[in-house]
Amino acid sequence: MFVEGFKVESPNVEYTENEIHSYYNYETTELVHEPRNGTYQWIVKPKTAKYEFKTDTRVPKLGVMLVGWGGNNGSTLTAAVIANRVSISWATKDKIQRANYFGSLTQASSIRIGSYNGEEIFAPFKSLLPMVNPDDILFGGWDINDMNLADSMARAKVLDIDLQKQLRPYMEHMVPLPGIYDPDFIAANQDSRANHIIKGTKKQQVEQVIRDIREFKETNKVDKLVVLWTGNTERYSNVLVGLNDTIDNLLAALERNEPEISPSTLYALACVLENVPFINGSPQNTFVPGLIDLAIKRNSLIGGDDFKSGQTKMKSVLVDFLVGAGIKPTSIVSYNHLGNNDGMNLSAPQTFRSKEISKSNVVDDMVASNGILYEPGEHPDHVVVIKYVPYVGDSKRAMDEYTSEIFMGGKNTIVMHNTCEDSLLAAPIILDLVLLAELSTRIQLKAEGEDKLHSFHPVSAILSYLTKAPLVPPGTPVVNALSKQRAMLENILRACVGLAPENNMILEYK
Ligand SMILES: NC(=O)c1ccc[n+]([C@@H]2O[C@H](COP(=O)([O-])OP(=O)(O)OC[C@H]3O[C@@H](n4cnc5c(N)ncnc54)[C@H](O)[C@@H]3O)[C@@H](O)[C@H]2O)c1
Repeated sequence: MFVEGFKVESPNVEYTENEIHSYYNYETTELVHEPRNGTYQWIVKPKTAKYEFKTDTRVPKLGVMLVGWGGNNGSTLTAAVIANRVSISWATKDKIQRANYFGSLTQASSIRIGSYNGEEIFAPFKSLLPMVNPDDILFGGWDINDMNLADSMARAKVLDIDLQKQLRPYMEHMVPLPGIYDPDFIAANQDSRANHIIKGTKKQQVEQVIRDIREFKETNKVDKLVVLWTGNTERYSNVLVGLNDTIDNLLAALERNEPEISPSTLYALACVLENVPFINGSPQNTFVPGLIDLAIKRNSLIGGDDFKSGQTKMKSVLVDFLVGAGIKPTSIVSYNHLGNNDGMNLSAPQTFRSKEISKSNVVDDMVASNGILYEPGEHPDHVVVIKYVPYVGDSKRAMDEYTSEIFMGGKNTIVMHNTCEDSLLAAPIILDLVLLAELSTRIQLKAEGEDKLHSFHPVSAILSYLTKAPLVPPGTPVVNALSKQRAMLENILRACVGLAPENNMILEYK
């Protein structure tokens, strides 16, 4: 049975007018490696840590500024939110289609909340804690191309034409602000697109982005803002001692107008200086060490990298399943072709390299978790190929071959073919990223022994489910397996309302 919402009644949970307080027992383990009976043994000690969570339940008016607003993702997301807001339906060759948020974890997935009269009860994921309704988000942003959003939507060739016709009047007046352009960081083939540029030194460009942020907040009267990079994939920037390795060096490099500071780092810097959450949806190393340290120092949320939308999402499910089943993946070969502007930009070796890096580490945690299948340091062969084929447009093809060793030396090969509009996969993920980033800034927590409540670490690991190469706080393990990432997110939100983690034991039926 499916219910729309619920309230928790427990001595450990208190709802006030503007807050939910929860007192929570975090069941965990502590390990020691000690001599016992003349030999070293691993001793596991179950442990209960007491936590307190406080969630501000006041849902703000949220603004979202996208870097690369006029791109396929930016225009598709903006169009889809408007279509939902004004309840557009349109004729396809199959049926009358209504706007929806399918593909969004927060808007279209559900959680189990318990059993009632022997029946399993589920509720929307978004009913766990008060979240911004995506229909209410105000969009804005930057693009190095001056096209309005209605024309961008047409250029993207993603949405059905009948839908586009209905959306056009809502989007014609939406024009991105000029963006920071540096031809050294994206493919040369993007040059003809760059007609809408913030001029000046890098420091002046950061100052302009700060002015843009302030003006957007002021004009739209939003309570909160999230900025998200969905611009072209940049090449990696060099991380160098004296350039971007520390806060001081990065800020000094900005003063010197150092060429090696990428546009995405400049936007992120502006956001951190303004205490506006910044999320990177592309693979490049926007978050150089000096910037991460600055975000930590200023307690300003950063999250990334690279939306986990299609092939990698599948990989983080399939390899988890194989390794979890005691099967040994030995070769993973991933081939993609796509024909959108992202594909054209990725046809340059330097930008492709960023994508290759981001796609390549995704199975590491699963491989490292099984010492029966893999020797220390052993990895499956893992190759990623991306080709630009203009004809297929946004409808990306992903072909994957997984070869594994199975029982008694047998081999098992799984081949997968996926065809899908890339932007229809990415847009709901962008939505989840901004909604969850906003929500996480309203949550405070405190472990037993800490003297006061504090926000989550500014390097936002709880967004990992949505990113290919999760950025996590220094010293935190990176989790790529999709089910674990989802469980982490769901269980943290459950903790905020005093619900135990979903343990799937269903003992009540045993
Ligand atoms: N669609 C997916 O499934 C998916 C998944 C993971 C990552 N991504 C990444 O998302 C990004 C966007 O994808 P897309 O398909 O929308 O690409 P796109 O090329 O259609 O859009 C990118 C937009 O960014 C603009 N731009 C480039 N540099 C800019 C800058 N410095 N400032 C402002 N605007 C800038 C471009 O003019 C363009 O309009 C890419 O980096 C892509 O790799 C996409």
